[in-house]
Amino acid sequence: MSSFRLIYCSQIVPPLDRAGLDAILVSARRHNDRNGLTGCLYFDGYHFVQALEGGSQDVNETYQRISRDGRHHTITLLSFGAVNTRIALHAMALAERTGAVELALDALRNPEGHFVPERFGPAQAQMFMQLCGTGATPAP
Ligand SMILES: Cc1cc2nc3c(=O)[nH]c(=O)nc-3n(C[C@H](O)[C@H](O)[C@H](O)COP(=O)(O)O)c2cc1C
Repeated sequence: MSSFRLIYCSQIVPPLDRAGLDAILVSARRHNDRNGLTGCLYFDGYHFVQALEGGSQDVNETYQRISRDGRHHTITLLSFGAVNTRIALHAMALAERTGAVELALDALRNPEGHFVPERFGPAQAQMFMQLCGTGATPAP
């Protein structure tokens, strides 16, 4: 059965502290484990960018649920399609700002110097999440 990858971004509803982020990760990991999904979440204090991977129906149902979550807004679908390999190696992982991710952030800033993931094209979203996946650590 082929895997699908969906990438979206959103903006957080503040305040979101470390405990709030951990609560999201714990619940996401539990659900994703059950549904055979893998996921990688980038968080910079303002934005989320997440890759979700697995069966088409599971990915879509999970995305619908995530879209209704009041902890974020301006949810923007960036990319969806079949893939041969997975970026995310865990049911849910949090992307650290490694050197590679910092470089990608620099390359993807808009002319005003801001990181605006909602303007990413599908290829930029894939590249960004690929780099995020490399240094991501498993969620609690
Ligand atoms: C940024 C963000 C990422 C999330 N990622 C996932 C995820 O990967 N999988 C998942 O099942 N839920 C994820 N959630 C949580 C869902 O929105 C939802 O709260 C959870 O699935 C429980 O839904 P339920 O209370 O209707 O059972 C995420 C929420 C946020 C805010």
